[in-house]
Amino acid sequence: MRILSGVQSSGLLHLGNYFGAIRQFVQMQEEGEGFYFIANLHSLTTVQDPAKLREFTLDAALTYLSFGLDPDRSVLFRQSDVPEHSELFWILGSLVPLSHLERAHSYKDKLAKGIRPDFGLLAYPVLMAADILLYGADVVPTGKDQKQHLELTRDWAIRFNQTYCDKYDPADPNGLKNGRPGVFKIPQALIQKETELILGVDGQKMSKSYGNTIDLFASDKKVKKAIMGIKTDSTPIESPKPTEGSALYSLLQVLASEDDFTQIRESWLKGGDGYGVFKLRLLELFHATFGEARARRAELEKEPDYVEQVLLQGALRAREVAQAQLSSVKRAVGLL
Ligand code: TRP
Repeated sequence: MRILSGVQSSGLLHLGNYFGAIRQFVQMQEEGEGFYFIANLHSLTTVQDPAKLREFTLDAALTYLSFGLDPDRSVLFRQSDVPEHSELFWILGSLVPLSHLERAHSYKDKLAKGIRPDFGLLAYPVLMAADILLYGADVVPTGKDQKQHLELTRDWAIRFNQTYCDKYDPADPNGLKNGRPGVFKIPQALIQKETELILGVDGQKMSKSYGNTIDLFASDKKVKKAIMGIKTDSTPIESPKPTEGSALYSLLQVLASEDDFTQIRESWLKGGDGYGVFKLRLLELFHATFGEARARRAELEKEPDYVEQVLLQGALRAREVAQAQLSSVKRAVGLL
C-alpha cells in the first residue's frame, strides 16, 4: 500500500497539526510505503518572505523527524525538489474545468474574507492533485478541511483516464474487474476525525492564520505563556465549570490519557479547582506528550547537514517514482 501526504510549510507547526496530521502519518509508516512531503510550492500562495519560507520548510522537516518519521522506511522530501509536480500540474490543469476551481471551499473562503485571489490560490487544488497522482497513492491521510480537494483529485483522475485511456471504465475506476486501470490510480482519502476538536487559546479553531496556536517546539517559556493565557470565563473557583466551547477543557481531553481525563473531568464538573490548576495540569501533559520529540528536535537542530541529506535522498527516491509516472502521462497525452 502506498501512503502519501503533504503538509504545507506556511508557519511553525502546532498542536493542531500534530493531532490533525503528523501523528497519523508517523503511525501509518508501519502499514505501507509512506511518501511524505513538505508542500513548499503550495506555501508560496501565502508566504512571500523567502527567509520565512526556508525557515518553515526546515521546521516541517525537523518536526516529521522528531516525531519518529523514519527515513529508512518512509520517503521524506521537499515538493520543490521534484519538478515533476509542476509538470504534471500543467498537464492535469489542461482538463480541469474552471467551474470546479471556483467552487472549491479553500478558494471561496478566501474570497469571502475579502482576500484578492491570485492564480496560485485558484490553482491550488490542481497542484495538490498532481502531488497525489504522481505517486499512484492508494491512501491519503489528511484533515477534514482537505476532503473536497481529495474529491476533486479523484474526479480529475477519472476524467483523465476516460479521456486518454482506451477502454477505461469509470464504473471500475481502478480496473479491478476488467484489468484496465487508467494511467492514474484513484486514491482513497483517510480523513482524520480529531481535527475538528482542536481549539486554539482563544477558543476558535487552532490555526496559524488566527495566531492562537500552541507551537510544538516553542521554548518552554513560550509554551507556558501560551497555555497560561488560554481564554477562560469568570466561573468562580468553587463552581462547576462549563465544558461547551472551552478551549482548556478540549485541550485537556486531547492530551490526557483516558484515565487521566476521567479524573480531570470529575473535578472540572465538581468545582473546587480554579482554571489556573487546570492550566498547570495541561502544561504538564504537554511536556509529557511532546518532551521526547522536543528533545530529539534539539539534537537534530545541531545536525543540519543530516537533515538536508535526508531530504535530498528522499527527493531522489521520490523522483524515481514521479519520473516513471510522468512518462506514462506524457505518452498517454502525446507529449512523448
Ligand atoms: N493542502 C494540504 C494542507 O494544507 C497540503 C497538501 C499539499 C497535501 N499537497 C498535498 C496534502 C497532497 C495531502 C496530499 O494541509
